[in-house]
Amino acid sequence: MIVALNNKSNLSKEEFINYVEELKKINTNSTLILCPTFINIGLVDGILLGSQNVSKFDDGAYTGEISAKDLKSYNVKYSIVGHSERRNYQKETNEDIKLKLIKLIENDITPILCIGESKEERDNNTYKEVLKEELSILDDIEKDIIIAYEPIWSIGTGIIPTNEEIIEVFNLIKSICPNDKVLYGGSANNDNIDTLKQIDLIDGYLLGGLSLKPDKLEEFLNKLN
Ligand code: 13P
Repeated sequence: MIVALNNKSNLSKEEFINYVEELKKINTNSTLILCPTFINIGLVDGILLGSQNVSKFDDGAYTGEISAKDLKSYNVKYSIVGHSERRNYQKETNEDIKLKLIKLIENDITPILCIGESKEERDNNTYKEVLKEELSILDDIEKDIIIAYEPIWSIGTGIIPTNEEIIEVFNLIKSICPNDKVLYGGSANNDNIDTLKQIDLIDGYLLGGLSLKPDKLEEFLNKLN
């Protein structure tokens, strides 16, 4: 299983250093990918690294941006792109996300493309169209990537879709992108992992809140083993 840890905008320097020490003690068969804040990336050694975002531009006059080339120089092997929090707060569009995806692939960094529908889109039954639109940026991309299905209504809410709802979406994703690994993200935790893990289609998890608590994370990983 792939388990990607999205720290989001959390963990100051000392907190992060202690956190990484705790993470390193965890024994697991899963592949852990740590996605810290940009400023913490340089502090990581001995854990597979991902970033939470990347610039859509190459190096240059783009104040505040971090290019894929520079991430690569810090040994970043994966990068989350298109997280719903960036689509929402930074108004990232599918076009922006496609540009980022291309920069990552050019620099041998595996994208973790986040897709997911809002509560409204789920309720008015347009979610499949939304997901297909988000996946359409992969139409002319040859490289295998990782896709994370994160229903927006599930992120940080403690609510998860039913297994039937997840299976429907995973079958849709895998029918469009048969070679890509697909993760589930959104309130995955120790209370629901036994239910989630009944779904064979899930190749791993993208964790937010749980990623910040190494003891609880260890319990989760033990349940996966
Ligand atoms: P939570 O696990 O906190 O719901 O966050 C999921 C997420 O957004 C990971 O990218």
